Amino acid sequence: MSSMTDPQPTRELLRTMRRVRSVRAFRPDSVPDELITEILEVARWTGSGSNRQPWTFVVVRDPATLGAIAAASPNVRHVAGAAAALVIVMDGGMPEIETFDEGRLAERILVAATALGLASAIGWIVPAGAAPVAALLGVPEGRRARTLVSLGYPTEEGAKPKSVPGAARRPLAELVRFERFS
Ligand SMILES: Cc1cc2nc3c(=O)[nH]c(=O)nc-3n(C[C@H](O)[C@H](O)[C@H](O)COP(=O)(O)O)c2cc1C
Repeated sequence: MSSMTDPQPTRELLRTMRRVRSVRAFRPDSVPDELITEILEVARWTGSGSNRQPWTFVVVRDPATLGAIAAASPNVRHVAGAAAALVIVMDGGMPEIETFDEGRLAERILVAATALGLASAIGWIVPAGAAPVAALLGVPEGRRARTLVSLGYPTEEGAKPKSVPGAARRPLAELVRFERFS
């Protein structure tokens, strides 16, 4: 029997976490409901400030809606080609802490998608796109739809490593200090 204390699954989990990258090119194939549900199960276990869980997930699969979101916020154009998007709608009651909660949540969605062999990419809906996207999705006044995650199977190009392993991040030697900053 294996468990997370076994070296093998532990290493696999860490490897998955290290290889989370944005992949913005998707094949047209749809993503099975079971995989979306698995990702949502991981998402709902995200910790949040005071365990408020101030979020609702809108699963969007309709290509017309995905295209309209991309048109409202061109920096998230990748969503137009996605098989699905998880749009994170935050309750809006405590914006500062919810911003942190939202980041934790989005990262878990990316990790789960990567573990399941899916391509994924964050999109941050620009302020000018907020009202059109809220109207498209029927988001009530006061709630905030800002982050979405595009999901799908990667194209052949998208499945290739984006850079030499380790090259896209600053090295630990530059990032870590011990005991004191200086
Ligand atoms: C808060 C936040 C907002 C982001 N917004 C967008 C976005 O609007 N569109 C996009 O294509 N990528 C977006 N990204 C993805 C980053 O550009 C990406 O994670 C970063 O460049 C590192 O690349 P990698 O994920 O491939 O390693 C966002 C990431 C974060 C954390």
